[in-house]
Amino acid sequence: MMIMIMRNCGWLPGASTTSGWVDLASLVVFSAIGLVSVGVVAAMVLFAIRYRRRDGNRTGRPHTRASVRRAEIGWSTVIGIVFLGFFVAGAVVYDALQRVPEGADAVDITVTAKRWMWRFQQPTGRREVAQLHVPAGRVIRLHLISEDVIHSFFVPAFRLKQDVVPGWARMTWFEASTPGVYALACAEYCGTEHARMRAEVVVMEPQVYDAWLVGGEGDAQPLAAAGRELFERYDCGACHEAGLRRAAPPLVGVYGSEVVLQGGRVVVADDAYIRRSMISPAAEVVAGYEAEAMPSYAGIVTDEELLLLVAYVRSLGERPEVHR
Ligand code: CUA
Repeated sequence: MMIMIMRNCGWLPGASTTSGWVDLASLVVFSAIGLVSVGVVAAMVLFAIRYRRRDGNRTGRPHTRASVRRAEIGWSTVIGIVFLGFFVAGAVVYDALQRVPEGADAVDITVTAKRWMWRFQQPTGRREVAQLHVPAGRVIRLHLISEDVIHSFFVPAFRLKQDVVPGWARMTWFEASTPGVYALACAEYCGTEHARMRAEVVVMEPQVYDAWLVGGEGDAQPLAAAGRELFERYDCGACHEAGLRRAAPPLVGVYGSEVVLQGGRVVVADDAYIRRSMISPAAEVVAGYEAEAMPSYAGIVTDEELLLLVAYVRSLGERPEVHR
């Protein structure tokens, strides 16, 4: 009923598999806050009238220490429980939003944010600006970078918002449930044209998307193949593929797996880690290898090339437990 009322008040219906979770968490938190606010204001008004200054009324009676302590403990406990409830609701939903559904046959798309536009590249290499086509009912993994300042990828209907920070690589995902056209906006002030840094997400029936995908310019190259080309151009294989004399860790199946570093720390080999490994390889060296083996590719590999190299590493196989 509540949801129906909200829809009639201009509530934007959710259009992704996770939007219901976000709505529920928001509803729980805002309802609780709303009820408390109404209660506090009502009590305030009531007390102001009822206990207003009148002839003959005296100041309040003093409280005993014990009664004050009981009251303090009582309301602190109740408020503590309520706020922990908010935390649990938020944490559960946040976790659900971060986890890519297991066994999903995901569509990997790169997203480049730049003042003031959104550029996308489909798995086949088909490029798009200010428009993103995706199939309904499939997991879409977005691999995001920014070429200049902080932007934020925001699709209200999917309840999806992900900051895009220069110098970072980040993966986020969604699964659109209903075909249609949805607004995409930048949600981080990024300069004069920030308000116009918009795009649309076109959600299509899967067969329609498949047909659309093979269209487009003829020279497009699949992301992984373009990444392989870069891999060869930068001669990464000399160390990463050189068989027994290998100076650097093999990359097959690395994407999404847990990597043990020198000193025993364990990291997940996600987009961000692979990026860091190219930019500052000496910072997180895989156990059993030498820090000097790899030079930094900072300033050599561009951000967009980086996404392609990540796509290539991903194409070498990944672990199902890749989450973020
Ligand atoms: Cu990009 Cu605001």
